[in-house]
Amino acid sequence: MRPLVGFLIEYSSAKKPSLEIRSRQFPCVICANFRYNHSGGLQVEPAPEFGSEQAQADETMKNVLAIYPGSFDPVTNGHLDLIERGAKIFDRLVVSILRNFEKDPLFTIDERVEMLREVTRPWDNVEIDVFSGLLVEYARLREANVLLRGIRAVSDYEYELQMAMMNRKLNPKVETVFMLPAVSYSYLSSRLVREIAQLGGPITGLVPPVVEERLRAKIL
Ligand code: PNS
Repeated sequence: MRPLVGFLIEYSSAKKPSLEIRSRQFPCVICANFRYNHSGGLQVEPAPEFGSEQAQADETMKNVLAIYPGSFDPVTNGHLDLIERGAKIFDRLVVSILRNFEKDPLFTIDERVEMLREVTRPWDNVEIDVFSGLLVEYARLREANVLLRGIRAVSDYEYELQMAMMNRKLNPKVETVFMLPAVSYSYLSSRLVREIAQLGGPITGLVPPVVEERLRAKIL
């Protein structure tokens, strides 16, 4: 980025961007955003009004509460890998199961909550919860600043990008953070685990032992 030197300017009104820009001597308060446009010219934009939704979205995040939403039917070692990574960088991480009335799940919500509680016991900043309805609305109610999602391969990207952008449109205060699970889990999904288990294939190493036991019990 090119440094801005020479003079300091103040945008005269955040509400009326067409008003003139006045140059001032130091010291002065800069209440505008500066950026270089494509042709190299300096572009000045009014800073968001104090307290506005955009200003709140621009605030530095402190005490970050992240939500890791999903179906978790069932939780896999790939999910667990992401939970471990998320628990390290966020102050609190809420793994939240979507109560989806349209889907026909293998495990009930209560079973999924039990399994997730069991496998996330090592992290005391991880909580398990259930939500229904819009994710951004749930995030607002929980006062969460981050949505955590995993991207295993390029094939996940398009869907995740679309969802993240739509969630940003719905609530600009919430940031989506993508994390990559270990390469060894890049092909792993709950759907494949369910299918392999239902067809009698080996699932050891794909899910935590407690989930493996539950899967066997459910299917036999
Ligand atoms: O693990 P999944 O099943 O891929 O998780 C998808 C999930 C739960 C993150 C997504 O379906 C979701 O957020 N559903 C809540 C409804 C919602 O907010 N829809 C608009 C998304 S832009």
